Amino acid sequence: MDTLLKKLFGDFKLFSGKTNDSVVGVDIGSSAIKVVQIKKKGGKAVLETYGALSLGPYADGGQVGQVTNLSAEKIATALADVLKESGVTTKIAILSIPASASLIFTIELPPLALEKDFSTIIPTEARKYIPVPINEVTLDWLVIPKRVEEERVQSANEKTEVLVTAIHNDTIAKYNEIFKLAALEPSPFEIEVFSAVRSTFMHELGSVLLVDMGASKTKLTIVDRGIVKQFHAIGRGAADITTMLATSLDMPFAKAEEMKQELGMAPGATDQISESIRSSFDFILAEIASVVLAYEKKYNKPISKIILSGGGALLPGFVDLARDRFRYDTVIANPFQKTETPAFLEDVLAKIGPEFSVAIGLALRKLQ
Ligand SMILES: Nc1ncnc2c1ncn2[C@@H]1O[C@H](COP(=O)(O)OP(=O)(O)OP(=O)(O)O)[C@@H](O)[C@H]1O
Ligand SMILES: [Mg+2]
Repeated sequence: MDTLLKKLFGDFKLFSGKTNDSVVGVDIGSSAIKVVQIKKKGGKAVLETYGALSLGPYADGGQVGQVTNLSAEKIATALADVLKESGVTTKIAILSIPASASLIFTIELPPLALEKDFSTIIPTEARKYIPVPINEVTLDWLVIPKRVEEERVQSANEKTEVLVTAIHNDTIAKYNEIFKLAALEPSPFEIEVFSAVRSTFMHELGSVLLVDMGASKTKLTIVDRGIVKQFHAIGRGAADITTMLATSLDMPFAKAEEMKQELGMAPGATDQISESIRSSFDFILAEIASVVLAYEKKYNKPISKIILSGGGALLPGFVDLARDRFRYDTVIANPFQKTETPAFLEDVLAKIGPEFSVAIGLALRKLQ
């Protein structure tokens, strides 16, 4: 059931003391749940425990690594299992809402629109982007501040940019249900994109592209001076690469998953494996290129760096492929860097970090 389970400190009793100020971030991905428990000590976020559990086995006939679409009940069962296996001791939790169950877009408000009118203007404007009746969604927004140098030349006809998020009320109800079934303290949610940004960015200047390659989707977020400016989801992820490999090499999904994770596109993989994976990447890289180009054109500002996150970032050879293709500074996310961890675990945590970006970002938010 839990070949993906990465455990943890529970048995080692590395950390002792009170746990009532601990918080747990819970990322329910399409293929796996990831949990991270941290607590505040001396103004720092101390890692207490973490774990991951594949959801495939909770679906009928599902396998490790496969994309799932489970009911609240099944997710709650899996969540209870992973919390227990990971030795999570707190009920103070925060869950993410998947990007696929939300909308993230920027709108431009008319010049000189007054802040006090935003709560009526924004829902009206947002209606154009939302395919369901506006009263079925929960909206949130953030006015994107102008750059200082832009402010000086701000003219009367300059528009105000606002980042808007919408979550369907049914989705919120489902996640509230999971909270209840798993007996966790209710708490507001966060769309996963914002959690991942919080844990993977250090102090980058300029515009940075975060690529979160999960099992089902590859999420692209462009962040400028710490603020999310653009979001785009590609409907293909790391599980599609496994499916493609299984088909082209005529082997079971589980075997293809193993080869993908171990060999990927690194030297040592056969040409056949490498080629099959590379051709799966063609589509994803082309989408990334067009999103980057559109951003650079719209804002007249180049992307300066790419951060790779999500389980897919671990695919051997991906970082080199991205670097060759885009020629930007390209790195693999290391979100555990934002927490205090025992020195002897640093290498292990750096290696598995990308999978835990969302869970760590959530926990950090809850701790704030
Ligand atoms: N070493 C590795 N090499 C290649 N792929 C890997 C490796 N480790 C994990 N993956 C892939 O990462 C994916 C899981 O990543 P992650 O946990 O980020 O996805 P998820 O959050 O469940 O999915 P999504 O974000 O799309 O909902 C799986 O498809 C798995 O095959
Ligand atoms: Mg994910």
